[in-house]
Amino acid sequence: MCGIFCVLSRSPAHLERDRAVDEHLRRRGPDWSRDLTVTGRDPHYQCLFSAHVLHMRGLLTPQPLQDNAGNVLLWNGEVFEGLPVTPEENDTAVVSQALLSCSGPSDVLSVLSRVRGPWGFVYYQKAGDYLWFGRDFFGRRSLLWKFDGGVLTLTSVAAHDSGWREVPAVGVYRVDLKAPAEGGAVTFEVYPWAYAGKKVVSPRSETVLECVPGGCTAVMNPSGLVLTSPVCPLNMSVPKSLHDTEPQPDTHSSVKDLELLLASKEKSDEVSGLIEVLSEAVRRRVQTLDSPSNDHASVAVLFSGGLDSMILAALADRHIPAHQPIDLLNVAFKLQEPKKQKDSAKNPQKQKNKPTDSKAPIFSPFDVPDRLTGRAGVKELQDLNPERRWNFVEINVTQEELREMRQRRIGHLVHPLETVLDDSIGCAVWFAARGTGFITEEEGHRPFSSSAKVVLTGIGADEQLAGYSRHRVRFQTSGYEGLIQELAMELGRISTRNLGRDDRVIGDHGKEARFPYLDESVVSHLSSLAVWDKADLSLPRGVGEKLLLRLTARQLGLRQSAVLPKRAMQFGSRIAKMEDTREKASDKCSRLLTA
Ligand SMILES: *[C@@H]1O[C@H](CO)[C@@H](O)[C@H](O)[C@H]1NC(C)=O
Ligand SMILES: *[C@@H]1O[C@H](CO)[C@@H](O)[C@H](O)[C@H]1NC(C)=O
Ligand SMILES: *[C@@H]1O[C@H](CO)[C@@H](O)[C@H](O)[C@H]1NC(C)=O
Repeated sequence: MCGIFCVLSRSPAHLERDRAVDEHLRRRGPDWSRDLTVTGRDPHYQCLFSAHVLHMRGLLTPQPLQDNAGNVLLWNGEVFEGLPVTPEENDTAVVSQALLSCSGPSDVLSVLSRVRGPWGFVYYQKAGDYLWFGRDFFGRRSLLWKFDGGVLTLTSVAAHDSGWREVPAVGVYRVDLKAPAEGGAVTFEVYPWAYAGKKVVSPRSETVLECVPGGCTAVMNPSGLVLTSPVCPLNMSVPKSLHDTEPQPDTHSSVKDLELLLASKEKSDEVSGLIEVLSEAVRRRVQTLDSPSNDHASVAVLFSGGLDSMILAALADRHIPAHQPIDLLNVAFKLQEPKKQKDSAKNPQKQKNKPTDSKAPIFSPFDVPDRLTGRAGVKELQDLNPERRWNFVEINVTQEELREMRQRRIGHLVHPLETVLDDSIGCAVWFAARGTGFITEEEGHRPFSSSAKVVLTGIGADEQLAGYSRHRVRFQTSGYEGLIQELAMELGRISTRNLGRDDRVIGDHGKEARFPYLDESVVSHLSSLAVWDKADLSLPRGVGEKLLLRLTARQLGLRQSAVLPKRAMQFGSRIAKMEDTREKASDKCSRLLTA
């Protein structure tokens, strides 16, 4: 993970850096920083490149990386597959080498189409004077843009002031620096993503034309070149007969139900298929990391104890050396003490008959739903592998601390997103990923701070396997067709809804967010399956949604966590309880605006 930044100016004016933005960038890449400026004559342009590098493994590779031909690369990404990277090599250097051998735009597109893994990049191609930039197919790395006073700025993270927007993850962009610039105006050519052999992935590419910063223009590239999507399109088939989609009134969510389903040969093949790709996706994301020592984890999981995070933890266990701990980050926001019952105060007679206070359950303000499922989840994991040290990190957040950190940091990171939901999730993820809390040992609580630089998150499971309650609603009103449309739409907008924000929020701790459910092979595998193989919404909550994942959990040896109904993070962590309960998730969040 890195913080990358680039300003382009067509006028001779001095290029200025924003000190606040610089500070946010530096937190993403605390290990190395450097600037580099290139200039062009006739017509005049200047580009300032700035990079802040987070060192993950091997030798540190400085950025901006300039090759012998004078091209400059800013790479905020990971090459998990696609381009060969030997253990001694660095992926930034490999991408730079691959781009060096490109001449025309179709070569550049072919290199980028081959990469498997998340990325955001800026590339100055000296021959021909071009500036390229963009984000991977899902938008797993943040990139923002702004155009102001004839200056175009690109950055991983900004600060809370107006004018920033997320660069839409619809393709990559190229600026021709030779083109005459009327009053500094910038024109981007768009090279959109498209499925192999198909037309452009609509309607995402149309939205870009509306998202460009004021003063700039976007045009489709005139040659009609495209990037090849790294995943296959969603299987749109609907069942021919409805015989097995009738509600089954007597079923209730129990491990037994899953057991019965698993017993069928067909289901167990599907489950093995998913375990294979998902396990490989986790392996790619947790292996070959430098561990600071045997006592410290190199990998942490954002951990609610729910289905998605339990599966990630169980699979990480398969690939991380047995002597290394795994940190499970569990966040809770302080609950208000419930009001004493009115009548007990008013009616002393009644109170006398009640058990004494000491027998009443002790109120634990941090025992929010995710804390309880988290604790139960660790027990399951301990049973699964008693040799492993599982660090269950209890992160307790008070109202005061939430206010302070939102004001100082989180508001800037969430920006330019701005809803109540963005605020809740942004704050919850920030505190969880920071990993500062307590672990419980026999002697009691001990302060603990996770040193893991890689943070696994379960994002993408609900969008692909129909985990949200709105999927059930959609299924009831418009059947399988409606459900498929909903899933396709949600995966298409996951970059604008979640990924840019989560990358900025997690990156702020000098840690890297990794998303195994959005691995290209996992998405391709899930997309190729028929929707009724992934979810059966005629079955009750806790079984039907994400059915295939529940069966997978069961097969991996998990028990009760396999049948937990979905609980959104803002409710599970109780952050939503801290604020005005009348507001809607989609409202603009005034707390973020005052940051
Ligand atoms: C490449 O170098 C960067 C910066 O030092 C580091 O974070 C990254 O993990 C390295 N990648 C590989 C594949 O070694
Ligand atoms: C954090 O919350 C848990 C309840 O889940 C509680 O047991 C623990 O004492 C709290 N830790 C601190 C340091 O407040
Ligand atoms: C979609 O799913 C159906 C039913 O499982 C299968 O027969 C078909 O091959 C799948 N289509 C694609 C394109 O994978």
